[in-house]
Amino acid sequence: MTYLERMKEKIEKIRKQEIVRILAIESSCDETSVAVVVNGRKVLSNIISSQIEIHRHFGGVVPEVASRNHILNIIPLVEQALTSAKLTFDEIDAIAVTQGAGLVGALLVGLTTAKALSYALDKPLIAVNHIKGHIAANYIAFPELTPPFMCLITSGGHTAIVNVDDYNHFKLIGTTQDDAIGEAYDKVARVLGLEYPGGVKVDKMSQGVEPKIHFVHNDTLSKSYNVSYSGLKTAVINYVHKLLQNGEELDVPQICASFQHEAVDMLTQKVLRACKEYKQDKLVLAGGVAANSYLRSSLTEKCKELGIKLYFPPIEFCTDNAAMIGSVAYYQLLKEEPADLNISALPTIEL
Ligand code: KG4
Ligand code: ZN
Repeated sequence: MTYLERMKEKIEKIRKQEIVRILAIESSCDETSVAVVVNGRKVLSNIISSQIEIHRHFGGVVPEVASRNHILNIIPLVEQALTSAKLTFDEIDAIAVTQGAGLVGALLVGLTTAKALSYALDKPLIAVNHIKGHIAANYIAFPELTPPFMCLITSGGHTAIVNVDDYNHFKLIGTTQDDAIGEAYDKVARVLGLEYPGGVKVDKMSQGVEPKIHFVHNDTLSKSYNVSYSGLKTAVINYVHKLLQNGEELDVPQICASFQHEAVDMLTQKVLRACKEYKQDKLVLAGGVAANSYLRSSLTEKCKELGIKLYFPPIEFCTDNAAMIGSVAYYQLLKEEPADLNISALPTIEL
């Protein structure tokens, strides 16, 4: 019997179990994380080692540096995740891993580790899409949350409005045509001299500031569900360069607040329109930028007016973590076949 045939048999047995424990690995960008998750909802451990301090020196994530640090971190994190869950490898049912999207070298570290564990322990391998992971972070945070719902994904690498019909069924309604919203935050922060990762700094600088600058004057995408952040980002960068060339002082909080309002408002009106068109009365936020205070407060207010129930995960589940990968893997395991050992990392994958 081949490895894959054996895993298919095992997965059928696991589906009948009342308790399914998944060890999940995430290494798509600059966080190495390993978690143990029960039945897709209960987190027994979720250990995260962030490389933010390392990449801060370079003003952004350096892919090769990220891969090398994942290699240093991954095995100790697997051990810590098991110890903290008070489990042994024998008590784990399957191994889950982020297959994409992300930095190829970084993904390969997690993927190779997961394949080795799967083969050595003879336990099924579940390959997970990172974007689905961000959505699933909400299943962990809100035990009562079940599909269908509308989801707004805003992270460093993705911006998407997704109609979630079921745990395994998604419809992409709108996306970015160029930069992701988090990427735009980070680039604007950089030109303003704020440290990486800039999103949280721009958010803090904007607190209590009334926005006055208009960067984008005509939004050609206003009628569609798609967005573009490249134009807004370039407008802010040009504005800053012009002031600097003229020897004028920068009003950093004002630039931050004005950029933040335009970046967020563009998305909030579209996602609310999508809720109406798709008749969804639940809206779920996901991804690193879901930590943004203005995005949260403006949607809280608007959803209240429209009778839409809004969910946003606690900050630790907004950014990258392995628990969210373990959650997706559980629902995938119930319906789909396990992965084979020859799968590749997928730096760019759609939902
Ligand atoms: O989801 P995530 O950890 O990584 C990806 O999968 O891409 O998101 C990281 C992104 C970064 O761009 C960071 O600047 C942004 O989330 N971010 C924020 C805030 N906190 C993190 N952006 C705006 N406001 C925040 N409070
Ligand atoms: Zn992410």
